[in-house]
Amino acid sequence: MRTLTDRFGRVHNYLRISVTDRCNLRCVYCMPEEGVQFTDTSNLLSYDHIVELVQSAASLGVTKLRITGGEPLVRPGLDGLISRLSRIPGISDIALTTNGLLLAQQAEALRAAGLNRVNISLDTLDSTRFKFIARRGELRRVMEGIEAAGRVGFDPIKLNCVLLRGVNEDEIGAFLRMAYEQPLHIRFIEYMPIGHADENWKKQYLPLSRVLEIADEQSFSYQVRSDVLGNGPSEDYEIIGGKGSFGLIHPVSDEFCKRCNRLRLTADGYLKPCLYWVDELNVRPALGSAEALEALFRKAMDIKPENHEMGAKLFDTAQSHMPTDRRMSQIGG
Ligand code: GTP
Ligand code: 5AD
Ligand code: SF4
Repeated sequence: MRTLTDRFGRVHNYLRISVTDRCNLRCVYCMPEEGVQFTDTSNLLSYDHIVELVQSAASLGVTKLRITGGEPLVRPGLDGLISRLSRIPGISDIALTTNGLLLAQQAEALRAAGLNRVNISLDTLDSTRFKFIARRGELRRVMEGIEAAGRVGFDPIKLNCVLLRGVNEDEIGAFLRMAYEQPLHIRFIEYMPIGHADENWKKQYLPLSRVLEIADEQSFSYQVRSDVLGNGPSEDYEIIGGKGSFGLIHPVSDEFCKRCNRLRLTADGYLKPCLYWVDELNVRPALGSAEALEALFRKAMDIKPENHEMGAKLFDTAQSHMPTDRRMSQIGG
């Protein structure tokens, strides 16, 4: 079988596809309030081109896809794209990362199109605080989206909670209780300095060791899950006696690059071997040629770095720039 293997022996079977850099929220850890310069819709990679790229990736061993944004559900016709991707031989898992606002109205069509799983961002359970973190939208609509995801049968349903010191760290216990009482998988995520490593990041970054401290203080019993729940970097725990579980995504305090199996495609048509570094490859010149597309994916493997540097090295210096000037919404998380 053909595989995409990089210089460090890591096999890449997971492609994250951003379909838009636009978003209907302005989360404080992701975008400035005024937004960013969005890609003109005429410059987005078309669905035809995304299908062509995935056909090439699948022929090279990619089996798992994740659709991201910005907010992917703001791009019209996403169910049509998913339906086409789900028919590509070799693709066995298609998941979506969304902020949930538009999910209630689209869940059924997405499920029917062949979407297997959803990860929904939920940083707070308090509607006033939601306005502070997401700056727009309403918590109620996200909750309706989570409910709809359950109703149409997505399983597992994962919730992504980026922890910010002094902002939502006091809700760790409530999120753990939610995972105990409901069949939800709640992933706590460390705040990453992508595109804006400023003083705010250093002030608000919270290491996820805090989650296990709170779980201990509040007498939750937990153990590492023996099954694999996803394709990403999460370290998953079951809560003994509970209905759900939780996961930790800790790129800063304990990097997981040795296990990296991921490539990213940006909405404006660049292949990014790593979330952190500036290197990216323009896919457009290769479109239309199976050989050129294969060469492009192989080149991405050749230039993929061994790891990122958002840990102690960055934290302990006065550096205020990240190597990449793309923000999270322009990469796809
Ligand atoms: P599954 O495990 O398949 O459910 O998905 P996932 O965790 O890969 O996807 P999701 O889009 O929900 O990502 C959750 C968080 O993990 C986001 O904050 C991502 O930015 C982060 N993440 C995913 N892959 C990487 C990676 O390679 N490096 C870093 N630093 N963060 C990552
Ligand atoms: N650090 C950590 N996670 C982030 N996300 C967006 N920006 C950041 C950041 N700076 C998360 C979102 C979403 C996922 C795709 O990435 O909350 O769950
Ligand atoms: Fe939008 Fe996601 Fe960024 Fe929030 S984190 S502004 S929901 S792209």
